[in-house]
Amino acid sequence: MTQRLTLRRPDDWHLHLRDGAMLEGVLPETARHFARAIVMPNLVPPVVTGDDARAYRDRILAALPDGMDFTPLMTLYLTETTDPADVRAAHADGLVTAVKLYPAGATTNSASGVRDLGRVRGVLETMAEIGLPLCIHGEVTTPEVDIFDREQVFLETVLDPLRRDLPDLKVTLEHITTSHGIDYVADAPGDIAGTITTHHLMINRNHMLVGGIRPHYYCLPVAKRSTHQLALRRAATSGNPRFFLGTDSAPHVDAAKETACGCAGVFSATNTLSCLAHVFEEEDALDRLEGFASLHGPARYGLAPNTATITLEKRGTPVPVPAKIETGAGPVTVFDPGHPLHWHVIA
Ligand code: NCD
Ligand code: ZN
Repeated sequence: MTQRLTLRRPDDWHLHLRDGAMLEGVLPETARHFARAIVMPNLVPPVVTGDDARAYRDRILAALPDGMDFTPLMTLYLTETTDPADVRAAHADGLVTAVKLYPAGATTNSASGVRDLGRVRGVLETMAEIGLPLCIHGEVTTPEVDIFDREQVFLETVLDPLRRDLPDLKVTLEHITTSHGIDYVADAPGDIAGTITTHHLMINRNHMLVGGIRPHYYCLPVAKRSTHQLALRRAATSGNPRFFLGTDSAPHVDAAKETACGCAGVFSATNTLSCLAHVFEEEDALDRLEGFASLHGPARYGLAPNTATITLEKRGTPVPVPAKIETGAGPVTVFDPGHPLHWHVIA
């Protein structure tokens, strides 16, 4: 008996598309399956103002191949000099869906991020007033804090105080990697949600470090121990609408990953849906995949779910996932969960 699964077309609530030749190379990989994506603003230089976001949106739409239907949802990169009036205007124009907080130094291209939250309080107050969500990279950058503890410490020392200070601010805790993050989002009062990536559902730190170091599994926040991975899988498959998909698909050319000091980022746009169907089947929760990938995100951002659908079919033959995609910027390795995938996207 063939197994088929039809879902409303999914959206990706955390995606890196980059710019130029890389943008052209990776955009079709997302647009093939996803209707919309929240596009991260960590370009060099970053997407800071409404004008920056408009120009970047136009470059994305210009790079979209004819016949593909995809809407980029833009974000602004919060800096200590961001003007609240500019954020308000960009929101009023319908130009931006969220603002992104990178603690300075936390990850790829975050040098212009925020060092002192007190200096962005005016922007955050405006966002709370107009209902514009803040997407947060939830890690402290204090050198003394162990990299595996940086998310947990952030919850206690930054996120919880911030939310007590501004209880009306809508917050999305992005790419959750710990049970602490899951528990916080599940239980906290107020308007909070969390995204979970494809790769954090499929790998833990052993996959990255046992038997040799695998640079294509290195991302930030870094994968944690398996107990955390299991908490992520439980949350994603729980049906709780506070949790939804943000792939954090983050392309870097192989030369930047396979080197003595490799960049953080896993590129999973190409095979994310096959991976997710695999995980949800393992968790006996295929009926909850649509909520995670296609319903909870739009509900959180006040958008209608997509009306078009996508169909997956489980086949004996594995999905022919390419090892790499070729871009004008160079080859980019596709996330390999280490085993075959059998859920093919067929329509
Ligand atoms: C992202 C990137 O490459 O831009 N890298 C990553 O490991 N996830 C940045 C980020 O989201 O932290
Ligand atoms: Zn990211």
